[in-house]
Amino acid sequence: MARRYTSDLSWKDVTPKSVFLNRRQILAGSAAMFGAGLFAADAQAQEALVPNSFEDITSYNNYYEFGTRKEDPARFAHMLTTQPWSIVIDGMVDNPGTYSFEQIVEGMTIEERIYRFRCVEAWSMVIPWNGFELADLLDRVGVQEGARYVAFETAFRPNEMPGVRLPVLDWPYREGLRLDEAMHPLTILATGLYGDAMPNQNGAPIRLVVPWKYGFKSIKSIVRITLTDTEPYASWNAAQPNEYGFYSNVNPNVDHPRWSQATERRIGGGLFAGRIPTLMFNGYETEVASLYEGMDLAAFF
Ligand code: MTE
Repeated sequence: MARRYTSDLSWKDVTPKSVFLNRRQILAGSAAMFGAGLFAADAQAQEALVPNSFEDITSYNNYYEFGTRKEDPARFAHMLTTQPWSIVIDGMVDNPGTYSFEQIVEGMTIEERIYRFRCVEAWSMVIPWNGFELADLLDRVGVQEGARYVAFETAFRPNEMPGVRLPVLDWPYREGLRLDEAMHPLTILATGLYGDAMPNQNGAPIRLVVPWKYGFKSIKSIVRITLTDTEPYASWNAAQPNEYGFYSNVNPNVDHPRWSQATERRIGGGLFAGRIPTLMFNGYETEVASLYEGMDLAAFF
């Protein structure tokens, strides 16, 4: 089993669901009580972590295989057949093979993780994912000595994905992590949100979530996971290397060449509408800063 993530942002399986639901009500309740005025657009607002509505999370998406407008995935992603689904796991592993979705999730502890989610376009949400630690899957297939990176690939299905007719990216969508990032307990493979199966527009049936990195690292609808000793191809990095680095850690001090990364617009009306400061590593600095010790984060952006 992977090292389990134990900050209060996670939801451990040992906690009864009723207690969790109660906690969510308390959060929502106190937010309502204080009213919008008292919660200034400051770090406090970041800390409250009230999840966005299901409606927000499933209607404002980036999934370019279904079009480049935020509403396109919700309109077209139903075209993707997600059952049956399998993932090829290959490269430097002891047990390479083609695993069905059912084989992959079998025996995994599916937990709820309420994560800040920060897109590189400077908008953000708080999303209650359901998933398991990627490390648990990697441990199961057996990572071989010498492997240093994990490469991921999304399905490429021109018949089901109208967006891939446009050469926005060199399809299929691909991403990668360093092995220590992939093994970090915050890194999950998500299979749902709000306790239900993953909606297609959010990356059904299984997608990566790396909460301290810009959202484009969190690749959707994964069909291949490859362990390798060389830095993998990453779609946005390859398309515009001066704008999107391989690491893409959320960093308010390193701007995108065309816009500031110091603040973010929290999606969803009401309490957290408007801009709030972006936190280093998206608020997960305590957990992940040690991964980058000694690295110049402006050079390795
Ligand atoms: N994965 C694939 N295959 N295709 C995409 O276009 N967009 C990325 C990421 N994963 C994308 C993807 C970007 S830019 C973001 S911000 C997140 O997915 C959005 O996830 P969400 O729609 O679930 O919020």
